Parts: sequence; C-alpha cells; structure tokens
Amino acid sequence: MANEAIGVIGAGAMGAGIAQTFAAAGFPVLMQDLKAEALARGRASIEASLARLVKRGKIAAEAAEATLGRIATSTDQQALADRALVVEAIVENIEIKSEVIRSLDAICGPETIFASNTSSISLTRLAAASERPERVIGMHFFNPVPVMNLVEIIRALQTSDAVCEEVTALTQAIGKTPRVSKDSYGFVVNRVLVPMINEAINCVYEGLASPEDVDEMMKLGANHPMGPLSLGDLIGLDIVLDIMETLYDGFDDPKYRPSPLLKQMVDAGYLGRKSGRGFFRYG
Ligand code: NAI
Repeated sequence: MANEAIGVIGAGAMGAGIAQTFAAAGFPVLMQDLKAEALARGRASIEASLARLVKRGKIAAEAAEATLGRIATSTDQQALADRALVVEAIVENIEIKSEVIRSLDAICGPETIFASNTSSISLTRLAAASERPERVIGMHFFNPVPVMNLVEIIRALQTSDAVCEEVTALTQAIGKTPRVSKDSYGFVVNRVLVPMINEAINCVYEGLASPEDVDEMMKLGANHPMGPLSLGDLIGLDIVLDIMETLYDGFDDPKYRPSPLLKQMVDAGYLGRKSGRGFFRYG
C-alpha cells in the first residue's frame, strides 16, 4: 500500500487495541469516536498497555513513545478522508455500522478499504450498504488485540481478490497471523468455540458436574489452557448468548440452541468478570 494511513473508528476495548497494534508496527493511525471521553479512555488504555510492555522488557521506552506519537484522535469523521484503510470497531449493531459505512463512502477516496471488526454481523450485508462493496471486508481481531495473534479475515460475497490479498498482507505487516474465512454466521472461531462453551453450560444445567469440575475436566482431559466456563465469564455471558442466538437464528438449526441456564445467567445480570459474577466470583 503506497498510502499507509490507517483509520480506526471506535475507541473502546477493541478499537484502542487495533489502533495500538497498527501504530506499534509503524503505521500512522487516526482513532475516531463520537465521544471525546471515549477517545481519552482509549488513549489511556493504550498508554497503560504500552507501559506494561515496557515494564516487562518486551519493548523499549522509546518504542512505546513512538507508538503513542503515531496515534492521533478526533471526534470528526471527516478526519478519516485520507485513510487507505478504515477499520470500524463500534457497537455491534447492523444499522449503526451500515450508517457509518455509508457516510465513509462520501468522505473517503475511492481506493479506501473499509474493514469491520464485527464478531457476528454478515459482512455481505455490511458490504451491501456501500457503493464500493468489493472494498468491504472483515478483520476480526481478538481481545486483547496486542496479545492475540489471529486476525480472521472475512470475505463478503462481494469482496474482491485484490482487497483480500491487500488486507492479508497488511495483517502480516502488523505481526498478526491472517486466516481467511468465507462470510457465514460466527465465521470459524466463534462457530467452533461458543457452542463448546454453551455445551459446558448445559453440563452444569443438567447437574452432570460442578462448574469447577467441568473446567478442570476440560483442562486436564482436553489440554485446554482455560476451562470453558472461565472463558465464557471472560468473554461475557451476554456476548456468548448473542453469538449462540446468531448461530441459532442464522442456521435455523436446533443444535445451536442457547442453554436455558445461559439465558438465566444473563437475565440475572451474572455476566462474568465484568459484573463480578458469572459461573465464578471475581473481585
Ligand atoms: P466498546 O463498547 O468497548 O466500544 C465501542 C466504541 O464505539 C465506544 O467508544 C463508542 O463510543 C464508539 N461508537 C459507537 N458508535 C459510534 C459511531 N457511530 N462512530 C464512532 N464511534 C462510535 O466495544 P468493543 O468491545 O470494543 O467492540 C467493538 C466491536 O468489536 C463490536 O462490533 C464487537 O462485536 C467487536 N468485537 C468485540 C470483541 C470483544 O471481545 N470485545 C472481540 C471481537 C470483536
């Protein structure tokens, strides 16, 4: 890519991590959010993440400073006009994401590629919102972005080969491992992972074993580094439920039915780490 300027929309957990990752690899980044407070929080979380890396000896203090220096912020979408690639990491809502894509069509040059970090929305539907659907693609990063190596690259039905190749090369240039998936409900990682977590919840629901024992069995018997219920708590049980519902509604297949206990946990507000209680207690 001749023009290496990157735009990131959304300064939340994912957007800040994505901005940090591009900037650390030497790309100039503009991070845009509706709210100045969100930008300040996003910047503070990047600073904290870089400080941790310096403390652990993973990067030099000068490199951390240079990374921060490459990240500009703005509440104005117009600031994204000159970007070669814009990655959006805003709320998981198809109407809001489509609206952003439509306004970028008007703001950005014809060569700009639009990538979405959506974890469950159809890329084909998002691409259909754009006047340049062949330049829309999914870049599905994992949380925490600076640590997790995979980027699932999702090809919408409309995505061109050239755009897919460009985004694959760019993913390698930021030190991540790209793997391409066709557009489908849950893509690959969540389609395999989240039903496993749901099944672990069903084991508890049916009284087969305690949450502690289910997790221990998967760690010792399947060599998983973390038990499925601890992982569900980490991801957020509301998000686990959202993804199960996406799979269940999308494929119209009972094998993806969300566990009744998962629904109850969400109804009770037991969302996992973020609420202090899920299958385990925190804080
Ligand atoms: P978040 O809620 O932490 O951050 C979203 C940010 O977007 C907020 O700062 C909000 O002010 C901003 N925003 C909302 N509408 C906007 C607009 N129209 N223009 C500019 N900024 C806007 O969300 P999070 O967790 O960072 O997720 C973002 C996206 O990444 C979602 O699509 C989510 O599904 C996806 N994702 C999340 C993962 C996770 O583990 N949190 C993992 C992989 C994907």
